Amino acid sequence: MAQFRTLDDIDVSGKTVLLRADLNVPVKDDKVTDTTRIERLAPTIEALIAKGAKVVVMSHFGRPKGGPDPSLSLRPLVAPLEKAIGGRHIAFAPDCIGEEARRVVAALRPGEVALLENLRFHKEEEANSPDFAAALAELGDVYVDDAFSAAHRAHASIDRLARLLPAAAGKLMQAELDALTAALDHPSRPVLALIGGAKVSTKLDLLRFIIGKVDILAIGGAMANTLLLAQGKQVGRSLCERDMAETARQLLTLAEERKCRVVLPEDAVVASELAAGVAAREVAIDAVPQDAMILDIGPRTVAQISTALDAARTLVWNGPLGAFETPPFDRGTTAIAEHVARLTRAGKLLSVAGGGDTVAALAAAGTADELSYVSTAGGAFLEWLEGRELPGVAALQDAAGGAE
Ligand code: 3PG
Ligand code: MG
Repeated sequence: MAQFRTLDDIDVSGKTVLLRADLNVPVKDDKVTDTTRIERLAPTIEALIAKGAKVVVMSHFGRPKGGPDPSLSLRPLVAPLEKAIGGRHIAFAPDCIGEEARRVVAALRPGEVALLENLRFHKEEEANSPDFAAALAELGDVYVDDAFSAAHRAHASIDRLARLLPAAAGKLMQAELDALTAALDHPSRPVLALIGGAKVSTKLDLLRFIIGKVDILAIGGAMANTLLLAQGKQVGRSLCERDMAETARQLLTLAEERKCRVVLPEDAVVASELAAGVAAREVAIDAVPQDAMILDIGPRTVAQISTALDAARTLVWNGPLGAFETPPFDRGTTAIAEHVARLTRAGKLLSVAGGGDTVAALAAAGTADELSYVSTAGGAFLEWLEGRELPGVAALQDAAGGAE
């Protein structure tokens, strides 16, 4: 991929750095329930502090309807962010542009940090407005983008702003891009893609792109049912997309043409309904009872995917393999996650995973820390797996190219 600047390439000493972060973290009753994005951002803030910059953190949060919404304020993020950077004080500006923002930023000394209020309180953010980007640019000297997980949004603080100031990628952005390019752009082969989730229809572009990139494609989750159905198998009352059968067949043909081996479930765990503690049993994939639902991959499929993983050097994983939120249908996903963790620990596999549900499933399996890289991104990770250009990455590349 084309190059972009990093923190090593820019001079920030004594300068005001506008740091685009993704603080769009899950919050319940004013408490952050998953601090991963905050913790992964901290090293960038600390590096900027160490270089003597004044650091102005900005982010969106939730999806306000283009105006201020007190329930979506970033103010509750101040304390967790302070904690993540060793208890240093962070000033808060109750607006991200204008007088209030200017006042807070002007009071910063080198090595100090401020957080601006939610960018999406101005509808101009999502409209990628040049005037809004200029109002942000006015606050600082240098732009650093560390929001890989928002890089699929062509918004003012991500796209336009990167074109108004000297721009560089932060450490998290850099780590995400390094991991993702190592997994798909120049990977050690064979590469295995493990794709799960509910629907083929929402991952069509992803499947088409990935089939051209990887050597083995293993499919689980309800989307496997649609492919099994396309092969003439009976899937009972399982979740599946009957109207996608023809598309599913085309995908299988494409895989054959591209010499991508497709691994589909050989057996399944079925039950009469999706409910905790329901009576579940294992059946061969050609013996799914008419009144049953497939809710997880079975033990033979776990073995089959594990064997494929043993032969692989690189793994890209998106999507749970069963209804993992409802035990016992988490077993297949957990068994595979543990096997991936073992191979990664042994240095036999480079493993990269991403997507909201995937990260939740890995966390539930207790293996989230044991993969080579787990992305903080949901939508951006998926768009990257579709081979799409991410506006946030493109803006950084353009900024580097244009100035050299
Ligand atoms: C995310 O959480 O996936 C990113 O922050 C993007 O948020 P959005 O989907 O509301 O644009
Ligand atoms: Mg999202």
